[in-house]
Amino acid sequence: MSSLRLEACCKINLCLEVLGPRSDGYHDLTTVFQAVSLADEVSVETRDERGTTLDVVGGGAPPGRGNLCWQAAKAYRRERKWPEGAHIELVKRVPSGAGLGGGSSDAAAVLRALALMDPEPLRLADARRMAIELGSDVPFFLRGGTSIAYERGDDVRQLLDLAPCGIVLVKPDFEIATADAYGMLSEADFTDGFRTAEMATAIDDSQDIAAVSELVYSAFARPLTERWPVLGELKQRLLDAGALAAEVSGSGSALFGLFEQPKHAERAVTELARAGFWARAAEPAGMAGEPIERTE
Ligand code: C5P
Repeated sequence: MSSLRLEACCKINLCLEVLGPRSDGYHDLTTVFQAVSLADEVSVETRDERGTTLDVVGGGAPPGRGNLCWQAAKAYRRERKWPEGAHIELVKRVPSGAGLGGGSSDAAAVLRALALMDPEPLRLADARRMAIELGSDVPFFLRGGTSIAYERGDDVRQLLDLAPCGIVLVKPDFEIATADAYGMLSEADFTDGFRTAEMATAIDDSQDIAAVSELVYSAFARPLTERWPVLGELKQRLLDAGALAAEVSGSGSALFGLFEQPKHAERAVTELARAGFWARAAEPAGMAGEPIERTE
């Protein structure tokens, strides 16, 4: 029996363009993903008894089979016929239904943990295939950092790391289901991916936060803000607090603000929290890191 504890960072979408619907019920998109330091903690322990068990500490994530972590462990055990059993402890800090990828990141952390403990580690291509089956964002979280993604969001290519900056995450008191947000898009929200390509070039050329901020965009901004005007108000609050750019993350309901100075981000969080919103100051995270703790 061995165990391993990993951080599971969340993400924002610095640019998210939806190209249009696909024949499989998904949408083609191009997006720049940025891993963010706010993280859940995932501990995985291999066991001799068959089965997968899961304890969730904090947050509103579902226990048992309904949790993507549980499904990730089951998929790994089925693929590799190893281990006999696994126990997962998930400490939730990233809110669910927020477009921050918390559940996807937790699932990717389970795959990474098991691959690190496996006497015959899974090949990267197999891990990627399993990740796609778990969710469109899961492949990004296998590596994290700064990336551009295509197709369902699962065809991921690494970019250079974004320059250090302050990131504010803020969430109103409701969640948005991803499928519902996609259902709110209309023809006019579909674009050609040019803006995302331009942002990827800006990041690889200079990693400069001011240049990147000018290209921040989300196809979901129009429909979500029309349906929930508070999202527009929160965007304005972030800009008033000095954000270079602010936008909804993924399919919402959280927004992010980019700040040149981390101390300005912290001040914005204090103001937003005082107004009653869930808000956190964070920073860009690099590629998925080493385990926090390991026991053989
Ligand atoms: O892949 P994931 O499970 O996160 O997707 C949840 C839902 O979001 C899908 O069932 C689909 O309705 C929508 N979606 C989409 N196009 C994508 C990703 C997600 O339409 N590229």
